[in-house]
Amino acid sequence: MATTHNEAKIGDIAKTVLMPGDPLRAKYIAETFLDHSFQFNTVRNMFGYTGFYQGQKISVMGSGMGMPSIGIYSYELFHYYDVDRIIRIGSAGSYIKDLNVYDLVLAESAWSQSTYAKVQNGCEASVLYSDKELNAAVEEAAENRGYALNKGRIYSSDVFYCAPEMEVPQAIYAERTCICVEMESFALFHNANFTGKKATSLLTISDNLITHEETSPKEREKSFTRMMAIGLDAASA
Ligand code: ADE
Repeated sequence: MATTHNEAKIGDIAKTVLMPGDPLRAKYIAETFLDHSFQFNTVRNMFGYTGFYQGQKISVMGSGMGMPSIGIYSYELFHYYDVDRIIRIGSAGSYIKDLNVYDLVLAESAWSQSTYAKVQNGCEASVLYSDKELNAAVEEAAENRGYALNKGRIYSSDVFYCAPEMEVPQAIYAERTCICVEMESFALFHNANFTGKKATSLLTISDNLITHEETSPKEREKSFTRMMAIGLDAASA
């Protein structure tokens, strides 16, 4: 059975899905890390693949950018394809000096001004939580590999290009305790709650809004590999 945005057949998609924002990253992960992988979706180039990692069936699919996009794809995975767990792997901008580019963040909760949850089912919460069991698997995977993991609340924003007075990182950290900003997790966590499934977000810091620290392509690649390795280990645990 296909949905409006996904042509996969029932059974094509594993119970656990890793979701990078960029569909080409999904392709890269499948080609580099999964055995016997096949592509289950090409609709709108939002590529999805299923294969095996350390003997476990795992899928990886792009989410696109922003809450409407991840909202559609993650809902369809949970509701129509009976996926149990989604681990978002993405990037985030740091709101604090000591959270540097390439550092890893596990989102324990997401604060947002988004109307996604309210419009979806009337949920009035402005903070939503990731799944504790999934977080424990991510933490264990990071520890086993010796990679440091920062844990905390993140900000899921609807706008990348905010007027400066509308996104003051120091204020959002002080008032909302958000250590970094991305654009998807709040909708993902809401869909998991709504469907009774599990989700979390593992993020790599790609820019620091306080120090304006620069990144290099080589280091970006290395840090992304660390995040993928943790995500795959946790997904197959
Ligand atoms: N993802 C990575 N960096 C970001 C930023 N500065 N704002 C929103 N999302 C991001």
